[in-house]
Amino acid sequence: MILVVGGAGYIGSRVVEVLVKKNEVVVLDNLSTGFENAVDPQTIFIKGDIGNEGDLEAVFSNYPIHAVMHFAANSLVGESVANPLKYYENNVSATLKLLKVMLKYSVKNFIFSSTAAIYGFPDVNMIHEESKVEPINPYGRSKLMVENILADFASAYDLRYVVLRYFNAAGASESGRIGEMHDPETHLIPIILQHLLGQREQISVFGDDYDTPDGTCIRDYIHVTDLAYAHAAALNSLLTGQNKTATYNLGNGLGYSVKEVIDTCEKVTGRKAKVVITDRRAGDPARLVASSEKIRVALGWKAERNLEQIVSSAWKWHKKTDE
Ligand code: UFG
Repeated sequence: MILVVGGAGYIGSRVVEVLVKKNEVVVLDNLSTGFENAVDPQTIFIKGDIGNEGDLEAVFSNYPIHAVMHFAANSLVGESVANPLKYYENNVSATLKLLKVMLKYSVKNFIFSSTAAIYGFPDVNMIHEESKVEPINPYGRSKLMVENILADFASAYDLRYVVLRYFNAAGASESGRIGEMHDPETHLIPIILQHLLGQREQISVFGDDYDTPDGTCIRDYIHVTDLAYAHAAALNSLLTGQNKTATYNLGNGLGYSVKEVIDTCEKVTGRKAKVVITDRRAGDPARLVASSEKIRVALGWKAERNLEQIVSSAWKWHKKTDE
């Protein structure tokens, strides 16, 4: 049985949809940012918190868990700067509690959601797993701390783990049930689509004087469905013994600028956006693009869906939620 903590969130719930095809799944989520209706009905859903050892005990003592996937984290860079306590508490300290209970019940397989934010301002065009890690905000630091904790736990307690460093997750599930929705929304693609649905007056482009071909920031957008299949492959690599510990980037290796993303949204929706250029947003690197060669070679995984498919799936979902 697989335990998915944070399985009601955007990425976790999409991974659960894939996992239930072959596994029994328990979802533990405190619904602080997730939605119960995003959780696949084929799972056992428990409302609870990984920061609460009683909630964890209730899960591990009742179900034969043999692997854990961990999506239960806060993930907004700006909020982490304003409220680092929340990030170190929820992302680091709560994760330690989870790991402690796992060890108590001899559960040794762990998949951890990390982030491109650990690379800070990269000085390379294509970011490899061995590129310098130097996070520039508490969110990135909280994720890197857990990566280091995992390495120590692997040496000391024989924990087996895969760390997956996501670049820009986007898009919606083909089932139509899961899409990207944060409150407040800060992510580019949902913001553009909300504007094109008339829910926002305009789109602000945060700076067009970066050292990139069109002056706007470049990111590596990856479809949430591609992310989900990477998790399934990572889990398989632990359960078959192929991996004991591993760290992989998850991106599609293609960068798109903010302007290119807006153009793609206009093309997919057939609607015209009102765009204003504003100041840069603090902490935005000019370019973040992953090399995902390592996971392709090791596990045969690569992103299959391009930006147009990401935007089309998201558009379908946003239109439906607007009805
Ligand atoms: N952007 C705009 N206008 C907006 C929103 C975003 O121009 O209204 C730009 C941003 O400046 C950035 C790009 O669009 O250049 C993408 O921004 P997002 O907020 O969608 O995503 P980020 O690249 O900031 O965030 C991603 C992940 C985070 C991770 C971060 C690391 O979502 O989890 O990369 O830098 F921490």
